[in-house]
Amino acid sequence: MQQKLYEHLTACGQEHLLAFWDALNEAEQEHLAAQINSIDFVQIAELYKRQDESANTLTLAEKACDPPGYKFSTVRDPAPCKTPKPITAQEAVAAGTDALNAGKVGFVLVAGGQGTRLGFPHPKGMYPIGPVSNATLFQIHFEKVLAIARQFGYKTPYCIMTSPATHSETVHFLKGKNYFGLSEEDVFIFCQGTMPAVSRDDGKVLLESKNSIALSPDGHGGMLAAMTKGERSVLTQLREREIEYLFYHQVDNPLVRVGSPEFLGYHILNGSELTSQVIRKQQPADRVGNIVEVEGRLHIIEYSDLPESVGRQTNPDGSLKIWAGNIAVHIFNTEFLDRKSRAADSLPFHYARKKVPHIDCQNGKFVQPTTENAVKFERFIFDLLPSAANAVVVEVDSPNHYAPLKNASGSASHSPEAVRRDISAMYTAWLEQTGAVVQEGISIEISPLFADSPQAVAKKMAVGQRFEQSVYLRD
Ligand code: UD1
Repeated sequence: MQQKLYEHLTACGQEHLLAFWDALNEAEQEHLAAQINSIDFVQIAELYKRQDESANTLTLAEKACDPPGYKFSTVRDPAPCKTPKPITAQEAVAAGTDALNAGKVGFVLVAGGQGTRLGFPHPKGMYPIGPVSNATLFQIHFEKVLAIARQFGYKTPYCIMTSPATHSETVHFLKGKNYFGLSEEDVFIFCQGTMPAVSRDDGKVLLESKNSIALSPDGHGGMLAAMTKGERSVLTQLREREIEYLFYHQVDNPLVRVGSPEFLGYHILNGSELTSQVIRKQQPADRVGNIVEVEGRLHIIEYSDLPESVGRQTNPDGSLKIWAGNIAVHIFNTEFLDRKSRAADSLPFHYARKKVPHIDCQNGKFVQPTTENAVKFERFIFDLLPSAANAVVVEVDSPNHYAPLKNASGSASHSPEAVRRDISAMYTAWLEQTGAVVQEGISIEISPLFADSPQAVAKKMAVGQRFEQSVYLRD
């Protein structure tokens, strides 16, 4: 085995991966050999060579203009938008409701990656975020899907993408919670792939230990490959269930309106293959991806890639030209995903320069880098936007749709405290819309199984009800 591996690696200039082979036991050798055999070293060499091709983003940014879009009915003061085809909110809600009634909508949650920023030693979905109930992010999301299943009377498939770092704990946790009421056969948990980290200096693949390559998740774009892997792939099973639309969301945002009929309706009536929710950016440097149109195609330019001079540009009324912030809520046609999964290179790779601890193959010592020593390769699912027919954005209002948990407790933004505040503020506003009086300083939380909109709350509440202490409303 060693000889074969050695020849294979030498041909790609990666033979240092066997530097400690003789000192490994049989199981360790097998582990390393399996990792080596799973890596496409030709692809890695090619990616390393092309890592400085950042010109593309600059060109995109310079040509960027407004994306075509619709505004959600809760948005009072919309950003400038070219409307591709006039669709009223009522028409959208009706079309979305029809699709849900016909059982054509599936759901996918991306809960992979490594979640290092939050500093929580478990998958992010297990974070207790409910301001009153302490419900986890997973519970909140699962209850939203269960609410759809109950309301529209069909077996809603819920696909959960994990990473090697989050997979087994997520599987164990969700099973232990009985999938929060969904049937096991309707929950599809699948693990994304990995890519090796390479040295920034010479493109050599890094070892995290003497028998293990430094691998990291391949980005949420890994969903396309992971969902379509194998004969009975997750996507195949969705299509067998006649699921036409896949509602996509991220684990970090408890305010997401899962399966919103209005959002679905714009997507369907516009004949779009991929539709994305956006919020209007407040500041040029807001840390959200920017959805823009370039030569008739939609693209996302990440906040870190948007040149400051472009981000600051304004319209004559002072509003930002690049205004559409990606909140990572999308609808994909399953037929579109299927087609893209068959095409080679549907998604490009992005490069992230990171500090990656590793073993020095010369002396076997562990290196804890203080500067960015490595390059990681990731794919982003939203890079399907440019190839989607009739891609559009739908503007939503941030207080009712977006409060992502990104950073550790005490951070200036997107911290657990901020997210709990935002959840409570949204539900307080919902209650107040019914005429309720909510005392200042208390927390309000509503289970998605109790109500999924202010209108649904109104149906369950007596007018003018008073709330004087924190409350968690659930059926
Ligand atoms: C992401 C978007 C950004 C958007 C913001 C909204 C990217 C590159 N950027 O930023 O445009 O404005 O969300 O909140 O996505 N994940 C995986 N596997 C991976 C990596 C991530 O499943 O390999 C999942 C995470 O679990 C998470 C989501 O993808 O649910 C987002 O990842 P994160 O790294 O937090 O993205 P942001 O940089 O915050």
